[in-house]
Amino acid sequence: MLKGTLAVVALAILTMFGVPSVRHGARDLKNSWTRWSYFPIRDMRRSVALQPQKVVYRLPDDASVPTIGKEVELDRDVAAEKLHNPIPSSDASIARGDSLFHKLCVPCHGRSMAGDGPVAAQFMTPPDLLAQQTRERKDGFIYTYIRHGGVVMPSYGFQVSAEEAWHLVNFIRHQQKMSPR
Ligand code: HEC
Repeated sequence: MLKGTLAVVALAILTMFGVPSVRHGARDLKNSWTRWSYFPIRDMRRSVALQPQKVVYRLPDDASVPTIGKEVELDRDVAAEKLHNPIPSSDASIARGDSLFHKLCVPCHGRSMAGDGPVAAQFMTPPDLLAQQTRERKDGFIYTYIRHGGVVMPSYGFQVSAEEAWHLVNFIRHQQKMSPR
């Protein structure tokens, strides 16, 4: 009787919280089963922002004065011609872009950039960023998409700084080069 009750309780706990697995971010299978600290909800190393566009960020103070100029929102096609990537592609820049992409873009664009992220079905399916169309886009075009958004895609504005947006461009370019698509 007692054994049966214990089994039911154990099953209920497992169903409530799920089984920690490598997929959930635990370092390896042994850790995921034996170390409570690798429980998926606590392990935030690889967690994804659930509503990346809904974060409240602080706007610059009203009295602040831009010292390095103010960014003007350019039309995407104008930006494609006028803006050039000031950050050379390097391992560090690509890694920075990778981590930002994972946090902010994967929900829609998916890990593989194919437009199959977990929330993509709620929106218009995003284009495959590794496909010919995006490969042919200019850096400035992609940069403007990230900073100011698209028709459905949210604007990242202050949440992604100009510098971070260029790191993302470098990361997307890197993936396009490495991908067989
Ligand atoms: C809420 C879902 C969503 C998120 C989050 C999102 N995107 Fe998008 N993205 C889209 C959709 C939908 C489109 C295509 C339609 C449009 O213009 O909105 C798109 C289009 C794009 C394009 C244009 C591709 C082309 O060739 O036309 C780029 C580049 C892009 N996204 C990059 C990113 C990056 C980088 C991030 C992370 C900072 C990101 N997106 C986050 C949904 C999203």
